[in-house]
Amino acid sequence: MSDTCKIVLVGDAGAGKTCIISRYVNDRFDKTQMSTACPSLCNKSVFYPNYNKTINIDIWDTAGQEIYRSISKLFYNGASIGILVYDISNKKSFDSLKEYWYKELKENTDNGVIFFLVGNKVDLFESEQVNEQEAKEFANSIGAGFFLTSAKNNIRINDLFWKCGEIFIDPKSYNLNEDLNNEQKDRRQSIRIKNSTNQKKGICC
Ligand code: GTP
Repeated sequence: MSDTCKIVLVGDAGAGKTCIISRYVNDRFDKTQMSTACPSLCNKSVFYPNYNKTINIDIWDTAGQEIYRSISKLFYNGASIGILVYDISNKKSFDSLKEYWYKELKENTDNGVIFFLVGNKVDLFESEQVNEQEAKEFANSIGAGFFLTSAKNNIRINDLFWKCGEIFIDPKSYNLNEDLNNEQKDRRQSIRIKNSTNQKKGICC
């Protein structure tokens, strides 16, 4: 039985969560994507040759709309990776991550969860409203990895999920920031312990 890496995507409605997942899992982009109401699960099995290991990647899409948020919360439990998604052409979607989504995910997951900050829609760079440096600083402040993606043009979508799986298999590869503070060191330690427990028990995360 292979290990399962549970990934949860959160962020404001319209940031592109569903499209990111659809690009990764089905290599499709739907520009008329409907807004998500109920959280849904997509799954992919991925082989990592460097570790000679196959893992299941379970990706949970959640609803950004305010009326559905209390339902989404129920699906955060057991996540190994939390992906905070904003739209680079929408400053409010970035501010919401800082003010709401990061705290929301942190409070409803284990200490060991690893965060990624993802600025989606880089194909709309001419309408950029979120400065890359500012986004990197926020990522560093919470010990998160940082990716700029485009689901539309398939930019760095595979890299993002590949890195998530790699960190799940080998938490030592979580070298996102050399100057980790104590909280971040604890988190790294905690995911390491969690992984070894999963391997021993042969259970999913
Ligand atoms: P909720 O389900 O309401 O939480 O939204 P979401 O974050 O899942 O956004 P969704 O994937 O539904 O995308 C919202 C809109 O943005 C859709 O019209 C997509 O076509 C568009 N979109 C998503 N990703 C990209 C991208 O990389 N580039 C561009 N230009 N548009 C995108």
